Amino acid sequence: MLASTLSSVLVALSACSLASASPLNHLEARNNTGTSSSRKICVVPSQYAASNGTVDDSPAIVKAITECANGGLVQFPMGTDYFVQNPVVAVNLSGIRIEQFGNLHLPKDIAYVQNIVNSTEQTWAAAITWFILNGNNIEWVGTKNVTSGWIESYGQAWWDANNSTGLLARPHLFQMNANNVTITDYKARKPIAWNMRISGNNYTIKDTFLDASTTGGFPFNTDGFDVAATNVLIDGFTIFNGDDAVAIQSGAANVTVRRGMASGPGCHGMSIGSLGQNQGLFNKVTNITFDDITMVNALYGARFKSWIGGQGLAENVTWSNMRFSNVSYPIFSTSSYSNQGSAQTQIQAGAVTGRPNNSTVITKNFRWENISGSINSETPGDGSCVTDPCWYEQGLPTLDGTQGIIIECGSDTSCQNYQFKNIQLLPFNSKPATTICLNATVALNPKLGFECTNGTYLPAY
Ligand SMILES: *[C@@H]1O[C@H](CO)[C@@H](O)[C@H](O)[C@H]1NC(C)=O
Ligand SMILES: *[C@@H]1O[C@H](CO)[C@@H](O)[C@H](O)[C@H]1NC(C)=O
Ligand SMILES: *[C@@H]1O[C@H](CO)[C@@H](O)[C@H](O)[C@H]1NC(C)=O
Ligand SMILES: *[C@@H]1O[C@H](CO)[C@@H](O)[C@H](O)[C@H]1NC(C)=O
Ligand SMILES: *[C@@H]1O[C@H](CO)[C@@H](O)[C@H](O)[C@H]1NC(C)=O
Ligand SMILES: *[C@@H]1O[C@H](CO)[C@@H](O)[C@H](O)[C@H]1NC(C)=O
Ligand SMILES: *[C@@H]1O[C@H](CO)[C@@H](O)[C@H](O)[C@H]1NC(C)=O
Ligand SMILES: *[C@@H]1O[C@H](CO)[C@@H](O)[C@H](O)[C@H]1NC(C)=O
Ligand SMILES: *[C@@H]1O[C@H](CO)[C@@H](O)[C@H](O)[C@H]1NC(C)=O
Ligand SMILES: *[C@@H]1O[C@H](CO)[C@@H](O)[C@H](O)[C@H]1NC(C)=O
Ligand SMILES: *[C@@H]1O[C@H](CO)[C@@H](O)[C@H](O)[C@H]1NC(C)=O
Ligand SMILES: *[C@@H]1O[C@H](CO)[C@@H](O)[C@H](O)[C@H]1NC(C)=O
Repeated sequence: MLASTLSSVLVALSACSLASASPLNHLEARNNTGTSSSRKICVVPSQYAASNGTVDDSPAIVKAITECANGGLVQFPMGTDYFVQNPVVAVNLSGIRIEQFGNLHLPKDIAYVQNIVNSTEQTWAAAITWFILNGNNIEWVGTKNVTSGWIESYGQAWWDANNSTGLLARPHLFQMNANNVTITDYKARKPIAWNMRISGNNYTIKDTFLDASTTGGFPFNTDGFDVAATNVLIDGFTIFNGDDAVAIQSGAANVTVRRGMASGPGCHGMSIGSLGQNQGLFNKVTNITFDDITMVNALYGARFKSWIGGQGLAENVTWSNMRFSNVSYPIFSTSSYSNQGSAQTQIQAGAVTGRPNNSTVITKNFRWENISGSINSETPGDGSCVTDPCWYEQGLPTLDGTQGIIIECGSDTSCQNYQFKNIQLLPFNSKPATTICLNATVALNPKLGFECTNGTYLPAY
């Protein structure tokens, strides 16, 4: 029954894309030159108010997007609510502008959503996503109005229902595989799992607000942005979450992330990775900049992670002008990352026994510059720890809340040309800041900027 509801939405989509359906509110519009334009406008009708949020608006959403898919303007009017009971998939978009000024509500019924996920999900990485938009030249425009223009996912109940590693069968929220995209004023509240995943080319994402803060269970896997795209600017963001605020993944090149704030309860930082999880694949990430960012009450700040036995190259990565307040492990670069509980046995999808330690991802031209603030020496860690030792302590010398910099290179050639400049981090407990530094050799890192040692932080410049 539920599965057939889903397929009816998908069928509706394909039927619409074939039909020359009657226009939905086809109006004459004026463009920003004030000139009359023939841009088609599709105002999405809502049954929310009339049905007290019980009637599914997703078929109408799919219909509007389909009818305006080619050069049209889709409007969710301000103050209007929509019940998005089923996933919305829109492909072959071209030159579309979507104005999401109204509120989009996912279902609150966990079993209902899980049934949809269970009927389609193949793997976690390919898990169902509630909104999928693919195509070229796409504008998604939200609003700064604080009471309208939200995507409400009601994730709190999911987090509370399972406080160990997250409920199974969680959908992700928003995904685009596209070229030439601008996303402005996107606002999401309590996403169930990953918030936004992008692939393709040429994205400008401005003024995002993501609230995955919690009043109860840990918001596992609420990644802010997962970026596997090229030529990306993420400019202006406020993120409260329980995983990477930004995770730059294989295939990403020329990505700038700037002017933002990210915070706990378990924010896992401005991250590259994880790379090299699938041992058979060569992962690559180049030309990535994180700049002008504030991290508050977070587990990590500026972070790189790759897997033991992974293959790949991460080159030209800069974290600059970052302010940290109460961050547990402010600067962290590791080649022995693993997902919690996996004991380094995973190849991308599914467990295998044993994981040959036959390679490591090469990291080159990494720079950390102008980073200051406080280290959480009082209660380091976060609610994502459900193993003993915690996943974030595994394989490291004892962490005592004073480590400002942790560098763990998988081999004595895997870290090349690392540079640290003007790093001013202090533990709350007034002890001197310390470093853990494994295998960043002087020969390959002549401008490291501190003494590569396990002990007191000794800047050297
Ligand atoms: C505005 O519409 C006119 C008429 O359709 C068109 O010639 C012009 O290029 C449009 N300008 C913009 C900025 O879209
Ligand atoms: C509308 O739905 C809410 C639950 O979402 C319920 O609490 C409320 O009683 C409903 N109102 C009416 C008039 O049915
Ligand atoms: C914000 O949205 C609400 C509807 O939710 C509307 O009543 C109000 O006028 C909007 N405010 C502004 C400044 O547009
Ligand atoms: C969906 O599948 C997961 C994993 O097998 C299971 O834990 C959950 O109970 C299922 N949910 C429903 C509603 O069938
Ligand atoms: C992206 O935009 C540029 C400039 O407008 C255009 O030349 C290019 O064809 C667009 N790419 C796609 C895939 O539409
Ligand atoms: C990138 O996308 C923007 C907005 O869609 C477009 O204006 C610009 O021309 C594109 N740039 C390139 C190099 O395609
Ligand atoms: C979740 O687990 C953590 C750590 O075990 C515990 O401190 C917290 O109280 C739990 N929260 C809820 C809502 O169960
Ligand atoms: C890098 O991406 C930005 C947009 O994010 C773009 O403006 C710039 O042209 C790109 N650089 C190159 C060399 O393509
Ligand atoms: C390491 O072993 C894995 C599993 O056998 C294999 O997929 C991978 O290609 C190997 N890596 C290298 C660099 O040989
Ligand atoms: C990275 O940037 C450099 C110049 O700053 C440029 O030469 C190189 O082509 C870029 N690489 C990629 C993959 O964009
Ligand atoms: C890294 O940056 C250097 C210097 O800007 C550039 O020469 C090199 O091509 C870049 N590497 C890659 C893989 O883009
Ligand atoms: C350091 O490098 C050596 C040899 O290259 C390697 O065996 C060892 O595992 C590395 N240490 C860490 C912590 O990765």
